[in-house]
Amino acid sequence: MTTAVLSDLAAGAAELSVWPASTTRLPHGGLAVGGVSLAEVADRFDTPVYVLDEGEVRARCRTYRDAFPDADVLYAAKAFLSRAMVHWVAEEGLGLDVCSAGELELAVTAGFPADRIVLHGNAKSPRDIATALRLGVGRIVIDSPSEIARLAAAVGPGGHQKVMLRIVPGISAGAHEKIRTGTDGQKFGLSLTDGSAQHAVPRILGQPQLELTGLHCHIGSQITDVKPYVSALRRMVGLMARIRDAHGVVLPELDMGGGHGIAYRPGEPALDLTALARRLRAELTASCAAAGLPVPRLAIEPGRAVAGPAGVAVYRVLAVKRTAGQVFVAVDGGMSDNPRPALYGVRYAPRLIGRHSGAGPCTATVVGRHCEAGDILAAGVELPGDVRPGDLLAVPVAGAYHLSMASGYNLVGRPPLVAVGGGTARLLIRRETLDDLRSREVGD
Ligand code: LLP
Repeated sequence: MTTAVLSDLAAGAAELSVWPASTTRLPHGGLAVGGVSLAEVADRFDTPVYVLDEGEVRARCRTYRDAFPDADVLYAAKAFLSRAMVHWVAEEGLGLDVCSAGELELAVTAGFPADRIVLHGNAKSPRDIATALRLGVGRIVIDSPSEIARLAAAVGPGGHQKVMLRIVPGISAGAHEKIRTGTDGQKFGLSLTDGSAQHAVPRILGQPQLELTGLHCHIGSQITDVKPYVSALRRMVGLMARIRDAHGVVLPELDMGGGHGIAYRPGEPALDLTALARRLRAELTASCAAAGLPVPRLAIEPGRAVAGPAGVAVYRVLAVKRTAGQVFVAVDGGMSDNPRPALYGVRYAPRLIGRHSGAGPCTATVVGRHCEAGDILAAGVELPGDVRPGDLLAVPVAGAYHLSMASGYNLVGRPPLVAVGGGTARLLIRRETLDDLRSREVGD
């Protein structure tokens, strides 16, 4: 092969580097995921539609299991949850992190063992707590001082519940201010610096029906560097040692949360999971040895890195407007099915699918159909210059925090979600219809 052909191939592979591993090119510009043509999915289920590659989700679960053989890997349900997802995650040997009665109830009624579930939340409602106790959730992560007595009362004098304590370790990490949770000055957890973490420990130990199994932290989300995790772990072990010294209690568990970053566009960095596993293990062994502590059982809580790269969102172009030197390509979805660009300034790499275009590239802004100018899905992207109404655009890395964050804005209805694998497509979640929306209207 000539060098030119090789570099063309490399460029082609790089272009698909953030797509599910099963993605293949079809003749005439099409793409298939899990052996299913995305254009066919669009025809059969209409657009916008989310497509989720079951094989990619399972492979990502297995990558975590292999990288962290001695740890509990808890999938963070907030990234995306459905009954099928619950089954895949359970079958691949992961646990689950939930943050509401809704996520918990869905998981348990789909057959997920409650004792492998951890419940989070900075403001757990009475229903969250009642559901957790009724279903026998494995651990409840205490996130504020007032929760201790409230939880103890809900458990009752004869009852028993395993709990963890969420700590703010004072480490800043995360792709955007709105998803940084490792330092003081945000709503989650108990601070190490002002002593509220240290103060909460004896109060929990003083409640006989609560069993403190360990500490938890989640320093932020979309983190692509291993270092903040290592620093946070060192501080967490430091606190475990102080708890042993002050109260004579050796905590057997340490949950380091999730936040593992992924690439949304070709060339962007992702967190190196093998390096993370190696460095966390090394730091845990060293810090525990230095403090004279036994090594606690480690847990991690990835959400995005399990589901994100397995999903693709497919839209149809409704209008193309060339104005003031700009090209606006308007699609049939937008901020109601993906609020992430508007919320965090995330950039995506949409791609024309379903037809071949020989036209030269143009720089376009892909916008949604919602009634505000901030409804931008992807600014400054290259699309074929002849992009036109009726075309299909596919956006990779749409498996996490898309459907789970979708809203009812403008009453357009949330898109369906279709699982693909082995050459077949099956509907997991149907499109939200006007009837669904109308059925909530009970007054005049
Ligand atoms: N554990 C806890 C306690 C969390 O709060 C979160 C995410 C995770 C685990 C999972 O984090 P992940 O591995 O998925 O990054 N809506 C934002 C992300 C918010 C994350 C909130 N907590 C986004 O679309 O980027």
